Amino acid sequence: MLNRPRLRAPITRLARWALTATGEPGATPESLEPRPEGLAVEPSPEPPLDAATEDEQSGQDPEFARELRPAYLACESAAVTRLLYERLSDKDVAAVEQLLRETPGAWDHYAAAPDEASRWHLLLALGMWVGSESLAKKTRLVRVEPPDDVHSMTRGALAAAGGLYEADLIVDALLSVGADMSEVKAGLDFGSSSGRVLRVLHAAYPRATWYGCDPNARAIAWASEVLPGIEFFVNDDAPPLPLQDESLDLAYAISIWSHFAPDLGLVWFEEMHRLLRPGGYLVCTTHGLTSVAYYAEHGHRTLEQSQEIADALYRQGWWYAPEFGDEGDWGVVNPERGTSFITPEWLLAQLCPRWRVFAKAPRRNQDNQDVYVLQRVYALVV
Ligand SMILES: C[S@@+](CC[C@H](N)C(=O)[O-])C[C@H]1O[C@@H](n2cnc3c(N)ncnc32)[C@H](O)[C@@H]1O
Repeated sequence: MLNRPRLRAPITRLARWALTATGEPGATPESLEPRPEGLAVEPSPEPPLDAATEDEQSGQDPEFARELRPAYLACESAAVTRLLYERLSDKDVAAVEQLLRETPGAWDHYAAAPDEASRWHLLLALGMWVGSESLAKKTRLVRVEPPDDVHSMTRGALAAAGGLYEADLIVDALLSVGADMSEVKAGLDFGSSSGRVLRVLHAAYPRATWYGCDPNARAIAWASEVLPGIEFFVNDDAPPLPLQDESLDLAYAISIWSHFAPDLGLVWFEEMHRLLRPGGYLVCTTHGLTSVAYYAEHGHRTLEQSQEIADALYRQGWWYAPEFGDEGDWGVVNPERGTSFITPEWLLAQLCPRWRVFAKAPRRNQDNQDVYVLQRVYALVV
């Protein structure tokens, strides 16, 4: 039996503490001055989730779980934020803290961090925001913000270091299945937009070759210009990507499969299978059952539509609607791209045994999307 996601999602600590909604560009707290363009709040890693699974509790044969490890991921290490923070000496930290003290509002935010990982995160983000040169030099983080006409999921003070939250999410997920980041020689951000996550991973793991691709040509052009050392390229709506077979150790995709129509999603899974070496990993996020609850709770979808989506998930394992319409997503028009929800059962049925669906963390991304760790299997034994 597969692990059922819990339907009600508790609010994360930082989200509760923070002044703005998570991940929404343009939200600005009143307390931080000088008033930034937007203080996009990224929630802290979530509290540990129950390790014991239904299978373990019921004593059921784990073979029935197929390849999906029926356990929650241990997602709390904030591995990337920590790695970057630990490049700073006590003196460096004190110098950044002094800058924060001198910026009205910034210190209050920093001092209110609810835990150590949030404090590291805020020191990096707010320190980049106030322009600490030593911080940028020691961590290799880049202080750039896309203009308003360039796509980015987050902007403002808490996004000034890039997508620390997402970088942690990806690496914590990989570490929790035993992956070794030192073995990542080549990695791809599939659907990178303007590179908010890639710039953090490039800073953290500079020896790897990092690629980023997206059909949004303006975002890719901007990222290519301001983020040297990362190989960006524009991709088409459908495969192939201009990369060699088995050339990647890692691919990741934040909020990409949550938008593909199921058939297009499968085609792209197949392309990732081609690109990854045997044993390579794909970390991706999807809307699942917990997202149905999330959108209903937050009033983004009516209860009637939420019921329709939940019914479709139980009946056929997926729901899709081309919700971007004729305008497309920031001008990227594709009727096979809109909003999709899928169940783990559907995903397993489609991907196994060519993929090992290694682990799944319900609602791990922004208290909403599920996170999967997939591995291209080494060889099929028939
Ligand atoms: C919700 S945004 C997420 C962006 C980025 N992953 C992040 O977290 O900042 C979805 C992205 O998918 C991109 N996209 C749309 N169609 C795509 C495709 N066929 N292949 C790759 N990316 C695509 C969009 O242009 C957009 O940048």
